[in-house]
Amino acid sequence: MKKSYPNTRMRRNRSAKFIRNLVRETSFSVDDLIYPVFILPGKNKEEPIKSMPGKKRYSVDTLLPIIGRLHKKGLNAIAIFPIIGKEKKSKDAKEAFNSRGLVQSAVKKIKKEYPNLGIITDIALDPYTLSGHDGIIDSNGYVLNDKTVSVLTKQALSHAEAGADIVAPSDMMDGRILAIRKAFEKNKFHNTKILSYAAKYASNFYGPFRDAVDSSKNLNDSSKETYQMDFANISEASLEINLDINEGADMIIIKPGLPYLDIVAKIKNKFSIPIFSYHVSGEYSMIKSAALKNYIDEKASVLEAMYCFKRAGCNAVLTYYTPEIIKWLDSN
Ligand code: PBG
Repeated sequence: MKKSYPNTRMRRNRSAKFIRNLVRETSFSVDDLIYPVFILPGKNKEEPIKSMPGKKRYSVDTLLPIIGRLHKKGLNAIAIFPIIGKEKKSKDAKEAFNSRGLVQSAVKKIKKEYPNLGIITDIALDPYTLSGHDGIIDSNGYVLNDKTVSVLTKQALSHAEAGADIVAPSDMMDGRILAIRKAFEKNKFHNTKILSYAAKYASNFYGPFRDAVDSSKNLNDSSKETYQMDFANISEASLEINLDINEGADMIIIKPGLPYLDIVAKIKNKFSIPIFSYHVSGEYSMIKSAALKNYIDEKASVLEAMYCFKRAGCNAVLTYYTPEIIKWLDSN
């Protein structure tokens, strides 16, 4: 029978909360959240991030009780981003694989305290290079692929040795997933997972993050367009994802988040691999700024955004709003 009015009234199933709940097509819970955190060297430190109102960078001792409380409420995983002092940055980024470096020791401390909390580490050289680029540059400022991959592989191994559950290469070099997977197999890290930022676009929405990790001034207006993807492209994302799956990725990230959900929806039907999305710093700051001016309802808008991620096909979302969302879900 052809559906038509008045036999079909679409509003019938929207007429009361109970029926809206029953016909709801997607769900969202604390299980879907990954909390990205910024860590500082030293002790007893917390510093507000100017371009991300409400967010701070913490030394590990200060961060521990915060993530402990969230973990108790069901948080499954955090993603760690380090702030590396200028004196530790270099051309060859060798601090990236220092077994006693900031990330490596943070992983050990967090694992010891919360063995069941998943720890995701970022694989990229931008915190460690003088240039602020994700890789090693030549004399023209061009990021060298294979040289960078060998450093990334050492970095990933040092994270695995420290106890990271998931390494997440966010650098967009070619061939890095294969190189890291090979090193993991060789060194018997059979269960260390690789979450590949397979389709990471050269986006302007990363601005506040670069302030948070102090890399924007080093970048000095030079762009990441020779390795991150052109935001005008779709098919290229499929190629990238296909390569990373074949190289041994366990999950992929499409990044940024909300403006790129068309990519998630298209990829979802093509590949059978878990897809995470990253609700990036600029997206956080946009909602936050509007909320601070009372232009939008913060809680309602953020929860709506989370359903949008799920509707598009994301398995999980990295979002700076994680603590707030956990509090809201708890009080609902
Ligand atoms: C760098 C990295 C970036 C982000 C995560 N890892 C920034 C960049 O590529 O310049 C951005 C995250 C955000 O904006 O929240 N490896």
